[in-house]
Amino acid sequence: MAEADLVIRRARLLTLAPLRDEKPRVGAAAGDVGAIEGGWIAARDGVVVATGRGEGWQELDRTSDAVEIDAEGRVVMPGFVDAHTHLCYAGQRWDEFVTRKSGADYLAVLERGGGIHATVRATRDASDDDLRALLRRRLARAIALGTTTIEVKSGYGLEPAEELRQLRVIAAAAKESRIDVAVTYLALHALPAARVDDRRGFVRDAALAVRTVAEEGLAEAVDAFVENGVFDVDEVRPLAKAASEAGLALTLHADQLNDVGATAFAARARARSADHVANASVEGLRALARAAIPAVLLPGSAFFVGYAPPDARRFLAAEVPIAVATDHNPGTSPLEGMPTAIALGVVLCGLTPHEAIVAATINGAHALGRGGRTGARPTWKRVRPAIGSPTGCAVRSLGSFSSRQ
Ligand code: NIG
Ligand code: FE
Repeated sequence: MAEADLVIRRARLLTLAPLRDEKPRVGAAAGDVGAIEGGWIAARDGVVVATGRGEGWQELDRTSDAVEIDAEGRVVMPGFVDAHTHLCYAGQRWDEFVTRKSGADYLAVLERGGGIHATVRATRDASDDDLRALLRRRLARAIALGTTTIEVKSGYGLEPAEELRQLRVIAAAAKESRIDVAVTYLALHALPAARVDDRRGFVRDAALAVRTVAEEGLAEAVDAFVENGVFDVDEVRPLAKAASEAGLALTLHADQLNDVGATAFAARARARSADHVANASVEGLRALARAAIPAVLLPGSAFFVGYAPPDARRFLAAEVPIAVATDHNPGTSPLEGMPTAIALGVVLCGLTPHEAIVAATINGAHALGRGGRTGARPTWKRVRPAIGSPTGCAVRSLGSFSSRQ
């Protein structure tokens, strides 16, 4: 085992200990944070090398300048995984919040050329430098609030050329970021005003752009807003096919305000996750459970828009893996950071605090296809009872840890 250059001791350690065969957590695992009282964790160059309980850390080989932190009983746990955000935008929509009263109003505002379209206008007008600065600032806020893996979507360009510009801005910001950024091409978010008479052409162009996105390595997933009056399942089908052919994952804004069959479609299309799902049908839930696909609950948008939030108990009873995320965007969910998303997941969706932590870490990682490498204690490979390692384990890969109260 490498010499440790950091030891955090006397912690309430939430290991989210990896399953033998790691997969999205359901059943008892959906509420098991793997707590170790009086625990410690040792790292080298930012990589966790060992964990344990009590005073065993004193036996560890340490570098001469190793830092030792007494957590004094505070929680030490994996960093948060925010699996659904729209961080790349310009402008604000507080005025819309004031006039909006219900989920139906949200779609009416969109229909009248406001909502998403208002942010599209502001974002198209912003220069690359301005967008990058905004994005950098929002990423810094997310990091300050404990996020170590984050998904960022495009989606405020609509026309493929503008979407590609925004994706390049996001990809550049991702490259320079000190946390892991998973980029998604939100290809079908709203029909551009200039395309009202060319709906089919727009859907076709969005699917065609997937190949460019993949060839340039701009994103790892493709998304669509499947909703009454926005895009339907049939329109998303060619996009899903294009994503699969290009080797990109699929994720969907599914059944957020109405049940339009998007959750079941996401399962059939082997999507990486189905998001929102506040109005998903029983069949939709069954299909997700069968395919072990995480439902990403986004209580922030239910809170700000004012529709009934997704009922986590329904999903847990159906054995659907649950993740929780911020959905940070200027319209439906202008909230910052995972602590608020977790609080809303508990208060509005009915998750227990431990279920919310699983949803905000390892299950969020699964929703982003990263369940094997982040969101939990490192995956351990037992090699031999290693001298100096009280766990008798060696580290194969790591999860990101951060210290918090
Ligand atoms: O996740 N519903 C679709 N997309 C976003 C909102 C986008 C917006 O209103 O700007 C969401 O809620
Ligand atoms: Fe969203």
